[in-house]
Amino acid sequence: MTDAPSPAYKGPERVFSGMQPTNGLHLGNYLGALQKFVALQGKFQECIYCVVDLHAITAGPDPKELAAKSREVAAAYLAAGVDPKRSIVFVQSAVREHSELAWVFNCIARMGWLERMTQFKDKAGKHAERMSVGLFDYPVLQAADILLYKATHVPVGEDQKQHLELSRDIAQKFNNDYDAPGFFPLPEPLIQGPGARIMSLRDGSKKMSKSDPSDLTRINLTDDADAILQKVKKATTDPNPLPESKAGLAGRAEVENLVGIYAAVSELSVEDVLNEFGGKGFGAFKPALAEVLAVKLAPIAAEMRRLNADPAALDAILQDGAGRARAIAAPIMDEVRERVGFWRA
Ligand code: TRP
Repeated sequence: MTDAPSPAYKGPERVFSGMQPTNGLHLGNYLGALQKFVALQGKFQECIYCVVDLHAITAGPDPKELAAKSREVAAAYLAAGVDPKRSIVFVQSAVREHSELAWVFNCIARMGWLERMTQFKDKAGKHAERMSVGLFDYPVLQAADILLYKATHVPVGEDQKQHLELSRDIAQKFNNDYDAPGFFPLPEPLIQGPGARIMSLRDGSKKMSKSDPSDLTRINLTDDADAILQKVKKATTDPNPLPESKAGLAGRAEVENLVGIYAAVSELSVEDVLNEFGGKGFGAFKPALAEVLAVKLAPIAAEMRRLNADPAALDAILQDGAGRARAIAAPIMDEVRERVGFWRA
């Protein structure tokens, strides 16, 4: 089903992905990431899902809240349907090899490669000099996350494609520089599928984002049916009815987004949705969309509340995940140390 991760790489296929610990997870996180994490459990033997708290501190310290946010994101993984017995669920900082491999990769990656990263340029704007070195280095740590497990497939959003290319460049250069052909795989992004890009409810040219000042732009995973209905009703559309076919969505970004959300949430194709709603107005479509959203999200929100109410149980799951992650990572890191030539008694 998938491209070869590297012609020389002979190891097993493995999925790795991560999300930053933030509160306020929304529908874009669910459809763009969590739903895929769940689906991949049936397609790959081994899936590793990490809460990337080392990445979170690149944007600034948050010592009082960070651990709670990590638990909250882990709870969202589980509530969405990630099974902690089948998959490995853990918090990045609990496996110290992430930082260790990132250092080795810092000495592989070139300044020029990182200077091309558009996410850093977007985040830093005109103030690159005032950003942490960690923010600049963020994609190198991401490469370490993936390659520490020799992961071959990485479900991510469209915006992470460039970081995945960097991971491949780092893997390739490590394999070359240390005369280790096929040591690291060249990891493939998994981007396709519905829900790859969920846009703001108010502006079809912007991604749905937790940092948008207006809460009306997003559906939070914890919104109740009433909040969902209000937000969907206020979502930007136009006066025309829904089109009968996909071609009719061209130039109507907001409409395309809502139809895409309906399709992704109901696990239908866009064509199916337009067969049902084409020619009808938003007065009919919006309540139907709010209904499928509410039905989908209510059990997830309830399960998140249940998990968040019992942090000790959640910690036990994360501890077990960290142990299993480390069991894969440690021998790979040992081999890196050996290839790099670090001292060993
Ligand atoms: N940079 C990713 C994002 O913002 C998060 C991330 C960190 C990640 N490490 C990763 C994703 C490793 C996939 C694999 O979405």
